[in-house]
Amino acid sequence: MLKIVVLVSGGGTNLQALLDAKAAGQIPNGEFVKVISSKSGVFALERAAKAGVATAVIERKGKTAEEFEAALLAELEASKADLIVLAGFMTILGENVIAKYPEKIINVHPALIPSFCGKGFYGLKVHEAALEKGVKVTGATVHFVNEIPDGGKIIAQKAVEVQDGDTPEILQKRVMEQAEWKILPQAVAKLCYERNK
Ligand code: GAR
Repeated sequence: MLKIVVLVSGGGTNLQALLDAKAAGQIPNGEFVKVISSKSGVFALERAAKAGVATAVIERKGKTAEEFEAALLAELEASKADLIVLAGFMTILGENVIAKYPEKIINVHPALIPSFCGKGFYGLKVHEAALEKGVKVTGATVHFVNEIPDGGKIIAQKAVEVQDGDTPEILQKRVMEQAEWKILPQAVAKLCYERNK
């Protein structure tokens, strides 16, 4: 079993998709050992607790990037993480964490990378930018995390249609339902299967 740690910052619907997939037997080679949030009081923490997964909060606010990174590294090491999943994690990881876990950190991004990605493109902003540009197809991407924001090798992608009258909120929901909540658990299951020793 690979030990999986999930990093979150908000509502945690992608975390829920992972927990549901695990409960349904779809991730037989991985176990969720901890959920770490960069914000206290977020609903993702309740989702984890309800599924019986240990939680930790490392507040990003009020810390320097170095302090945050050191605290996160300590928590990841204590968890003996084999795979780290960024699921709505709104902080760019520091290079010490990235260097320590090559090809062991994956992220879900709500667009078809290399469109609408990189620094400043997160959450609803991604869908606002897609609508502003007028793209007719968008989607989601699961990729490895390297030192370039949203720049690591792509693992999975799924396209989603943009429809007339879409608002950023409506488009976000469709991208989550049709793409993110499917490709993220599938990618985790596949990596765990391939790396299971
Ligand atoms: C998701 O759409 C996720 O892809 C996006 O934020 C949302 C989090 O929702 N992540 C990013 O934009 C990261 N760059 P969730 O907390 O309900 O999973």
